[in-house]
Amino acid sequence: MSTFEDYVGSFDIEPGYLNWAAFGPLSPSVRAEVFADADLLGSGRPSSLALVGERIGQAQEYIAELLGVTAEEVTLQPSSTHGLQHALSGVSGAVIASTAEFPSVSLTLERAATASDHAVTPRWITPADGRVTPEVVAAALDDDVTALAVSHVDFRTGYRADLAALRDVLGPDRLLIVDAVQSFGVIDVEHTIADVVVGHGYKWLRAGRGTGFAWFSARARERIAPVLSGITGTTASGLVVDERPPPALSARAYTVSMPDTLAAGRLAIGARDVRDVGVAAIEERLAAQVDAVIETADRHGIAVVSPRERAERAGIVALAPEEPARLAATLANAGVVVTARGDSIRVAPHAGTDADTLALLDEALGSSGRESFIVP
Ligand SMILES: Cc1ncc(COP(=O)(O)O)c(C=O)c1O
Repeated sequence: MSTFEDYVGSFDIEPGYLNWAAFGPLSPSVRAEVFADADLLGSGRPSSLALVGERIGQAQEYIAELLGVTAEEVTLQPSSTHGLQHALSGVSGAVIASTAEFPSVSLTLERAATASDHAVTPRWITPADGRVTPEVVAAALDDDVTALAVSHVDFRTGYRADLAALRDVLGPDRLLIVDAVQSFGVIDVEHTIADVVVGHGYKWLRAGRGTGFAWFSARARERIAPVLSGITGTTASGLVVDERPPPALSARAYTVSMPDTLAAGRLAIGARDVRDVGVAAIEERLAAQVDAVIETADRHGIAVVSPRERAERAGIVALAPEEPARLAATLANAGVVVTARGDSIRVAPHAGTDADTLALLDEALGSSGRESFIVP
């Protein structure tokens, strides 16, 4: 993929898709490569199998490049939740997390506490607006706190946490564990402010499921015991029987078994396409798309409850319409795909969202409340 316009042009789905925060339809390059890799795996030739096996290293390289770290520090995981399981099961002490987090953070922390017989203890916070700000974290800090686990971008409110400010509040000795699912590949941030970053390729990278990853900094590797370490996470290379080698001293310790090479290939291509055009350019275009969605909602008098400031948001616009069920039905009838949950409608464009999609949204938001439903 050479230019930014090529990248934007690769969004080849039907107009109406505004649900990138839930699932990113696979890009043409990801689809093409997975067919090619599947053919190679179907041949049974050792050289072909080895070629597809190289996808693992490629995915680590591209993710590392996007994170600004080394490939050895990046692990491939079946999902981002698996990465969080490695991180949260191995810490000790009190870990601050919001009760309103996506359950990959909150439930995983709760389970880690139980499994560790409370060597890990959640220090729950419940900010009124669900925003994990430096002030809220500062108020929960004491000497027992060893880590903060936080979503970089909240899946519901769309709020983008200020990682640098959170690091300042935590100080250099506590771990900052970041779920970057809703920001990776679309927000240009200094990831090395954190100690652990998890993410996946099935939303903003357009690479499908099975594409989780987790990065562990040197500090994280010192502090997080690899309690879930599996057969790929040992000091040995290759198969070992009749021995039980200890976990590796590298990030590999936080792996369980061989990754799915087809998933690794998809992740590699999704990450490569983002690398080629640059996250900053994607962020800029996405910000303009989000501006357009907010402007449309404002024009139709529908409350926007997600942040309006560019620095506090990413690709999620949360609407709080007066009649959520009615608006959800109108959008669905108009072929506009969003996430409707409770009283909220989550609209999530991507950099490549086209004008037709925004026009469909405009029309649907405008007609909602005006159309009459005929009761037979
Ligand atoms: C913030 C956040 N974290 C984690 C997940 C789940 O990720 P995975 O399916 O890779 O475990 C999601 C899914 O929507 C999410 O929005």
